[in-house]
Amino acid sequence: MTAGARHSDAGMTPGVLRDGASALGGANPRGCPHLSICLRALLPTCQIARGEAMITEPMAVFGLGRWGLTLARTLLDAGLPLVAVSSQRPRVKQELPDPLWPLWTGDTQRLVERARWIFLTVRDDAIEPTARRLASLRTDWTGYTFVHSSGAHGRELLEALHQRGARTGVFHPLNAFPDPLRHPTTVAGTPFGIIADEDLRSDLFELAEKLGGRPFAIPPDLRSVYHLVAVLVANAPLVLISLGRELLRRSGLEPDVRWEYYAVLLQSALSHATDPEPILYLTGPWARRDRTTVRQHRDALQGLYPEAVPLYEQLVALAQALYLAATGQPMGGEI
Ligand SMILES: NC(=O)c1ccc[n+]([C@@H]2O[C@H](COP(=O)([O-])OP(=O)(O)OC[C@H]3O[C@@H](n4cnc5c(N)ncnc54)[C@H](OP(=O)(O)O)[C@@H]3O)[C@@H](O)[C@H]2O)c1
Repeated sequence: MTAGARHSDAGMTPGVLRDGASALGGANPRGCPHLSICLRALLPTCQIARGEAMITEPMAVFGLGRWGLTLARTLLDAGLPLVAVSSQRPRVKQELPDPLWPLWTGDTQRLVERARWIFLTVRDDAIEPTARRLASLRTDWTGYTFVHSSGAHGRELLEALHQRGARTGVFHPLNAFPDPLRHPTTVAGTPFGIIADEDLRSDLFELAEKLGGRPFAIPPDLRSVYHLVAVLVANAPLVLISLGRELLRRSGLEPDVRWEYYAVLLQSALSHATDPEPILYLTGPWARRDRTTVRQHRDALQGLYPEAVPLYEQLVALAQALYLAATGQPMGGEI
């Protein structure tokens, strides 16, 4: 972050920035838009901070889907200088919650005139084309920062902007934000995976902390594995839960046996999720290597949901293999 941008955020309310946004740019494109005013008037609320970096540059969120909406709201809640939000769909403006709709613009040119930090929160396959389209608006993007939030991709998607002078990075929330309008998920506590060069990396770490998140650097060459684990952990339990519910329905066990009763087991499994070796907490026929019961399960599944039989067999085998890898011993009992 430039020295000119190192200000206390005490006087940096989003409203003030919005009003002052047209005065941005010129000789100090990445600096605080209030710098000249601040120095002239010596406002006590706009002191130049000593030492610590602070994110004070005007920000925009481009793409108002699930994460874009969540991010925009969280930036505002954290008192960060969000000056614009943008969506390809004009009707989105009507659905925006109160603090966001005045910031809406459908005019990309206007957005880049106002903001210096632009979060590209469009869906993954639209990031690169959007970056190329934006890059073509100017020959020089020096002083701008562009960030995308995909965990599956690196900075290469923003190369067109990087080649024209912009700083680029990845700011990936390791969390799920399925329904920001009806059931907003809080960003506080979210780990943020970050890929960026040194100076932007420290800004993104600072930003994550301001949002109540926990930043960490993703080794760029291991990005695919990082994302694979995220997808497995976020989705595989939901697939298994959905299968369990479907088996209750198809078998007719419901309504006598309600799905909620099984939630206790899920909570028990989750309580071991952060232990170093969760596989040690397996119970039941897999852990006992009880071949008879496993066969009964397979037969029941064959009758109710035959497509899931190979998965069940593979889970048993995987459990054995993971246990062996963790302990050097096979799981106890016969199978
Ligand atoms: N949601 C999550 O839980 C989550 C978690 C971690 C990371 N992320 C990342 O956040 C980013 C956005 O994901 P999301 O879940 O918010 O997706 P989403 O809800 O599907 O929204 C994506 C947005 O992309 C825009 N878009 C769609 N097609 C486009 C096109 N052809 N050209 C330009 N823009 C287009 C749309 O924005 P407009 O119509 O508003 O312009 C849409 O609202 C992705 O990179 C994703 O990997 C999401």
